[in-house]
Amino acid sequence: MEKSIPQTALVPDSDYVIFGGTGDLALRKIFPALFWRFCDGQLTSKVRLIAVARNSIPLDVFLERLRPFCEEALNSYENAETYWARFAELLTIMPIDIATGEGGAELAQHIGDKKDDARPTIFYLAVAPALFGSACKLLSELDLVWPQSRLVVEKPLGHDYETAQQINSQLKAVFAEEQIYRIDHYLGKETVQNLMALRFANVIFESQWNNKSIDHVQITVAETVGVGERAAYYDQAGALRDMVQNHILQLVCLVAMEPPSHFTADQVRDEKLRVLQALRPLTKQDIVTGQYQDYERELDGVSNTETYVALRMGIENWRWAGVPFYIRTGKKLSVRASEIVITFKPKPHDIFKKSGDISAEGDLPNRLIIRLQPQEGLKLQLISKAPGPGGMRLFPSELNLSFNDTFSARLPDAYERLLMDTARGNQTLFMRHDEVLAAWSFIDPVIKIASQMAPTLYRQGTLGPNDHFGSDSDSIWIDPSENSGQ
Ligand code: BG6
Repeated sequence: MEKSIPQTALVPDSDYVIFGGTGDLALRKIFPALFWRFCDGQLTSKVRLIAVARNSIPLDVFLERLRPFCEEALNSYENAETYWARFAELLTIMPIDIATGEGGAELAQHIGDKKDDARPTIFYLAVAPALFGSACKLLSELDLVWPQSRLVVEKPLGHDYETAQQINSQLKAVFAEEQIYRIDHYLGKETVQNLMALRFANVIFESQWNNKSIDHVQITVAETVGVGERAAYYDQAGALRDMVQNHILQLVCLVAMEPPSHFTADQVRDEKLRVLQALRPLTKQDIVTGQYQDYERELDGVSNTETYVALRMGIENWRWAGVPFYIRTGKKLSVRASEIVITFKPKPHDIFKKSGDISAEGDLPNRLIIRLQPQEGLKLQLISKAPGPGGMRLFPSELNLSFNDTFSARLPDAYERLLMDTARGNQTLFMRHDEVLAAWSFIDPVIKIASQMAPTLYRQGTLGPNDHFGSDSDSIWIDPSENSGQ
């Protein structure tokens, strides 16, 4: 049965001040997300949107640049042009030089009038982390930090533990932890939140969710794109910093965490932190790195940076001891697919074996597949009897819950949810400072080991290097294209 997603709840009228407001992230993600929320009626015309840029550009030029990124929303509403015109009225562009503070007084004047209201002001720093410190200092000097003001920042939150700590200190010199929203956009993805619903709103999984029933866990984030224009940034980061330290470790946390006693920001984050603190330190045998063949040509230089990484991880606690968590991510692979696969243990005894009726396929373990993208959904792979006469022939079948087919509404982009949460003051889907540091504590030694290994070159359009942890890939990895419908 098709279900529509319930009406969105209004969020408090707020001011969104986007530093780096005419930059790439703002154009591709932030403003389109705000526009969708506006079209859906979740943001009202009382919202104010301020794009702060080093060099001002006329509003109509900005809107022309923004429009292509809002095309999907514009094509989805009958009154889209009216919404677009009204949305444009909410926008102001302000030139501010973060380093010198020039132009800041105008911002203070523009938004300072609402300071005494309960109205949230969200300062989104969509700028290089090197500017975070100066931006916070400037906001403080302009007297724009008050209980209702919030700060949003995004990765890279440091290059390692030490630099992450420096960034934290710069933010915390001005804002309290309750005011800081560290975005990991994976937490805003619908299916990632669904993982929590699956685990903590159903009873059937919890009793199986441990090393007694689960054989291993696989997390794959495969991309078909390469590094393209971002080569200069990416070459300093590599897959370990770009994807694993943040997105993939967050997914590991959500799979492995204990149930919090309440769905509140700190309780959820306390439990995630415990997982990060329980990660087994890795050795060289647990790490595989790769680089796609064209990478150096795109970079125009020689590089050891990994565009692919696979790790065999472990969690040292009673629930997960002995259960490998295999994670992998890579660029220019054969398929775009992100999924979590939980493979259950083999059955303790096979009553069908002697009858000779079981086929190789019917001997597969049960699997739960959580597809994050594309074709978001859940699949539970079971073994059942092939219909009809011919004996007890067993074959794999699936319980398939496709979110697109089940819910008639579109699944919103991660930024839409996260931006609304900043206005609501809900930090559940944002990372706390100690989580970020714990993730770096785990990943720093991994990066150190990986940097001493030469990445294996792999062909574009494959699933990365062939050997993993002493065996070939086929014996470990489940091909994500099987589940992605591609
Ligand atoms: C970003 C990384 O954080 O996430 C990119 O910097 C990556 O390299 C992207 O491509 C993947 O996000 P998504 O939402 O497309 O899976």
